[in-house]
Amino acid sequence: MTTSLGIVSSGRGENLRYILQEEQSGRLPAQVKIVLTDQPDAGALKIAKEFCVPGNFIDPTNLRREEYDKKLITHLEAAGVELVILTGYMRILSPQFVRHYKGRILNIHPALLPSFRGMDAFSQALEYGVKWTGTTIHIVDEDVDHGPIVYQKPVPVLENDTHESLKARIQRAEYKAYPKAIKMFIEEKPKISGRKLVWQREEK
Ligand code: GAR
Repeated sequence: MTTSLGIVSSGRGENLRYILQEEQSGRLPAQVKIVLTDQPDAGALKIAKEFCVPGNFIDPTNLRREEYDKKLITHLEAAGVELVILTGYMRILSPQFVRHYKGRILNIHPALLPSFRGMDAFSQALEYGVKWTGTTIHIVDEDVDHGPIVYQKPVPVLENDTHESLKARIQRAEYKAYPKAIKMFIEEKPKISGRKLVWQREEK
């Protein structure tokens, strides 16, 4: 049995590429059914095309958040999506959307949450002077960068790091971490207990 995924992205879509590669290799028991974006020129749309996955730009102009999210839901439902995967989606989801897919939306954030929530986690880490940062895959709840954590991967901050070098190191880690977290989530169906996930087997 494969799980139907819907990708929602505002950006380059590199995480999407790695998810699709894992799907095609047969290592990920999932199928990306649709890619939705709020940016007409999002790289995610090009990657979707490359992999022959339907991709749609949903224009947010003049729409309130709930109206926009209703459109997203219509597309995701029509595609039979069971699990929503956010990859660099820069809009805040409405409570209605989060409730509709309660416990079935994953997001990736480029820091070890709860540190450095919000925008530009790379600059936040560099300015704070941490020695380690990383990436977090978490379930989306009604607060930003907040829901229960599925998986984290630490990444070192080096002395001469620039914004670009740190970003590149974290994003390399993300390309492995996201497919791994999605696979764990689908296969082990963890229960949500408050802020924690209860795994059927030992956590990896
Ligand atoms: C990723 O680094 C992801 O962690 C970040 O956007 C990038 C998307 O890259 N997400 C956020 O900052 C969300 N708060 P991609 O479009 O190439 O997959």
